[in-house]
Amino acid sequence: TLPAGFARHMVDWQKLHGRQSLPWQNTQDPYRVWLSEIMLQQTQVSTVLDYFPRFLNRFPDVAALAAAEQDDVLALWSGLGYYSRARNLHRCAQEVVSRFGGAFPPQAQDLQTLPGIGRSTAAAIAAFCFQERAAILDGNVKRVLTRVLCYGEDLAVARNEKRLWDLAQNLLPDRPADMPRYTQALMDLGATVCLPRKTQCASCPVAQMCQAQAQGEPLAYPVKTRK
Ligand code: ADE
Repeated sequence: TLPAGFARHMVDWQKLHGRQSLPWQNTQDPYRVWLSEIMLQQTQVSTVLDYFPRFLNRFPDVAALAAAEQDDVLALWSGLGYYSRARNLHRCAQEVVSRFGGAFPPQAQDLQTLPGIGRSTAAAIAAFCFQERAAILDGNVKRVLTRVLCYGEDLAVARNEKRLWDLAQNLLPDRPADMPRYTQALMDLGATVCLPRKTQCASCPVAQMCQAQAQGEPLAYPVKTRK
């Protein structure tokens, strides 16, 4: 059985203690949200704060990015690493133009068909920009949810990961209007409170419903497998 009031506690906490003024927050522009999510996949926030405005300045919208030469995109990406991200970014912009008339599709299911957009990134864009009730599940969120639920199954096994996706979906707020803040709350909790090797359970809005905390073993989740 799922913890009652989880989404409400998360949303209320985000208002008071979450990150409020990152440059990709407080916008519903899918181009900006998409660009920030791709940059943040393997790069820390402090570095993205430097690259994000420069990239936007040079390529202010998806049409400008689609029309660019790939070498110019890669040059602006230089320093962020993982260059397949930049090549997919460029291809994605071109597909948004060619397949969707230059507007990102609103549904996570359609966003996921674009290059470089996986299930969690698609859900983040759909939740932040279009208030869709779609669950994110990146590494930080897996840590938060496996702890709250004491979910000890091996996530390297596809069916176990699939079950966690279903649980994540069932924890979402009822009201679509709460989706942007709820999604940010999960990211913020994973980045600032529910940390990999230390936890700040005293500052956690869902500590009283966290099963790992009740067992005194929050660091035991997620369960790491050999390989
Ligand atoms: N990491 C991934 N997405 C993020 C976001 N929207 N805000 C802060 N950190 C993030």
